[in-house]
Amino acid sequence: MTATNVTWHHGEVSREAREALLGHRAACLWLTGLSGSGKSTLARRVERQLVEREVQAYVLDGDNVRHGLNADLGFSPEAREENIRRVGEVARLLVDSGAIVLAAFISPYVADRARVRERFEAGTFVEVHVATPIEECERRDPKGLYRRARAGDIPDFTGIDAPYEAPASPEIRVDTTGTELDDCAAQIVAWLVEAGFVGARP
Ligand code: ADX
Repeated sequence: MTATNVTWHHGEVSREAREALLGHRAACLWLTGLSGSGKSTLARRVERQLVEREVQAYVLDGDNVRHGLNADLGFSPEAREENIRRVGEVARLLVDSGAIVLAAFISPYVADRARVRERFEAGTFVEVHVATPIEECERRDPKGLYRRARAGDIPDFTGIDAPYEAPASPEIRVDTTGTELDDCAAQIVAWLVEAGFVGARP
């Protein structure tokens, strides 16, 4: 049932005031890519590099969120859409709190990602395509899921029998093949510095 008779309450503290307190600007970095592409690992390394710079950074990760908030959702197109919608809303709240949010979700559908982007103020949603090719993801197969999907044990597996729609023009594109994790993460941090979200190192 849809809630009625609810009113939006504006707070007395603005996002700008929170950003001033933290000393950096807030943003959502949305990492999209295949399972095994390195989204979560990369998000966690960027989070660490940012926190080392005294930036309030926080990771939202598909595998983890699906244990709690989204434990009721599977992998049909509709369930993925709802997964991305909810997580987008959580990311939006965290950005309002002044944080730099790193959201690592396959988010295979262009339309779902576009809907999330629309919920953010222009310029505060930054799409990062973790563009590791499927051959490499399948070679890594960190959770053994590709092997099981190939054997027919996991239906609707992204890249095997469910689609992945790559972003046409993401703000950032990273291929984790042949590049050190720290260097991939530094690339993203450098982008944030260049775009004025966080200050350059003194
Ligand atoms: S999304 O498509 O809805 O964005 P999400 O990022 O939350 O996916 O979760 C992906 C993770 O769920 C994968 O890393 C993998 O561990 C697991 N998973 C289980 N079943 C599937 C499936 N059918 N397709 C893709 N990932 C799956």
